[in-house]
Amino acid sequence: MKKLLSLLVVSCMVLGLVACGNSKQTGKLIMCTNAEFPPYEYKDGGEFVGIDVEVSKLIAQKLGTEVEILDIAFDSLIPTVMSDKADFAMAGMTVTEDRKENVDFTHTYQTAVQVVAVPVNSSIASVDDLSGKKIGVQQGTTGDIYCTGDFGESAIERFPKIVDGFQAMKTGRIDACVVDDQVAKAIVAQDASSYKILDTAYAEEEYAIAVKKGNTDLLNKLNKVIDEIKSNGELKAIVDKYIK
Ligand code: ARG
Repeated sequence: MKKLLSLLVVSCMVLGLVACGNSKQTGKLIMCTNAEFPPYEYKDGGEFVGIDVEVSKLIAQKLGTEVEILDIAFDSLIPTVMSDKADFAMAGMTVTEDRKENVDFTHTYQTAVQVVAVPVNSSIASVDDLSGKKIGVQQGTTGDIYCTGDFGESAIERFPKIVDGFQAMKTGRIDACVVDDQVAKAIVAQDASSYKILDTAYAEEEYAIAVKKGNTDLLNKLNKVIDEIKSNGELKAIVDKYIK
C-alpha cells in the first residue's frame, strides 16, 4: 500500500497532476499553519513542534511522504489552501459552517472550548461580565468571530498572535482574552501569577484539517489516517505528550 502511494506521489510529480495540489512541485505534502498556538503548533529553538506538527508528520509518514510546513497568519490559511499554495491547513482549526463554504474539512481530531482569560485580580467572573469591556482575540479565529458578534466591533482588539493579547492584558490595555482552552492553559502556565482562566466556557468546538474544496482524493486519504490513529491510540499518545 505504502509502495503504491509513493508510486502515486512520484507519478503525480512526473505528470504534474492537478489533483495533487502543491505536492506536485515538491513531492511533499505542504501544510500551512500558524505556529503561535501552543500546544498545537509553536516554535521551540527554531523547530516547529506541537500536537498538529507531530500528527501531520505521522499522517505524511503513513501516506509514504513527508510534510513541509508553511507558517503564515491564521487568517491567510484558508485563502492559501483555496489557491493551492498548500495541500492542507492544520492549525487547531475549528470546523464552522462559514469556513465549510470555502474549504472541505476532514473528520475531527480534537475537541476544544473557547475560554475567557483575565488578569488574576480582575472582577470579571463570567462571560456576561464581558459587556462593556475590551476583549483581545487572535485575528480571524472563532474567538474573534463570536466576540465580535456578541459584543460588537468596538469591544474587540485583534492581535496577530494571542500571546500579544495576553501581554496587552498585563499592561491593562485590554480586560480579557478569548482563546482556545489548551492554548490559554499553556500561556497561563508560563505566567500563573498574572492571569487566570474563568470556569465558565464561551463555546465548544471541534478541530479538523482543511483541504481545498473538491480535493476528495486527499480528503479521503487524510480521513483514513485520522480514523486509524484515533482508534489505535497513536493520536492520544501525541496529545498526551503535550497535554498533561
Ligand atoms: N480554534 C480557533 C479557530 O479555528 C483558533 C485557532 C488558531 N490557530 C492557530 N494556529 N493560531 O478559529
